[in-house]
Amino acid sequence: MSATVSVCVVGSFMTDLVMRVARRPQAGETVQAEEFGIFLGGKGFNQAVAARRLGARVAIIGRVGADEFGARFLDALAREGIGADGVIRDPDQGTGIATPVVDAAGANSIIIAPRANLRLRPADVAAHAERIAGCDVLLLQLEVPAEASIAAARIAHAAGRRVVLNPAPVMAFPDELLRLADVITPNEVEAAALTGEAVTGPEAALRAAERLLARGARAVVVTLGAAGCVVAAGTARVHLPAFPVEAVDTTAAGDAFTAALAVRLAETDDLREAARWGNAAGACAVRRFGAEPSLPPRTAVLDMLAGGTPTA
Ligand code: RIB
Repeated sequence: MSATVSVCVVGSFMTDLVMRVARRPQAGETVQAEEFGIFLGGKGFNQAVAARRLGARVAIIGRVGADEFGARFLDALAREGIGADGVIRDPDQGTGIATPVVDAAGANSIIIAPRANLRLRPADVAAHAERIAGCDVLLLQLEVPAEASIAAARIAHAAGRRVVLNPAPVMAFPDELLRLADVITPNEVEAAALTGEAVTGPEAALRAAERLLARGARAVVVTLGAAGCVVAAGTARVHLPAFPVEAVDTTAAGDAFTAALAVRLAETDDLREAARWGNAAGACAVRRFGAEPSLPPRTAVLDMLAGGTPTA
């Protein structure tokens, strides 16, 4: 077991109202769900839980509502052993809501109503500057305002800490954030939207990564679902195939990937190894319905890496 690393997440909380359907509806069509579930999610929360289950010490900074959903998140953070001093209960906006629709192949589309997440301010982040400056890796996504993420990234960067940015959901963000991140982890859709390069496989993903490097990114890992991921850093260009698994629900697989990459990078300083851990954690996460229940413990990731079938 490697030394325990510490992770700080500045990110979102969303209650996921998930519908499983045989196929997604067309415009004007109503389809009946085969299964419905309510799960704790949000990319920030998911990545915090994933990092914690991989053995890291974790704290999260973000906003939930002063509602029942917000209370459930605080309970879950306590249960998982994740530091929640930085979680503010917003008096005026409810907890974020997401509605993932998952099809028969396990693929998902998600609509989010970020609500309290959008009220996270740079000052909320600055209040926890010491924690950010003291962690081994800062994990960021794009479900809270970019100014809050930039405030956190500046603190971590100035303190010589690693910053990992998962640019999801994709949207325009200042190049400063790109430059402050040590690694960015877009999926194929996000990489395409950020670069204009149609990402149809590993070669195209490397072309998109090249463009992101030219724009100021320092290392890029593009996740490709069942095709694994590509890593572009310095002069290294690598395709790492996925671990073969049957996908039940891909929701939060990207979160498991990014969290595992961040934890392993902090443990080993080896991006290729970290991306392999990302692939293994992502493969574990697609085996279960719902975000939070699918995030794997370290033992499951180790089993996957060793070529066995994870029992957890
Ligand atoms: O990455 C998966 C997450 O994205 C879901 O849990 C949903 O809340 C959305 O934020």
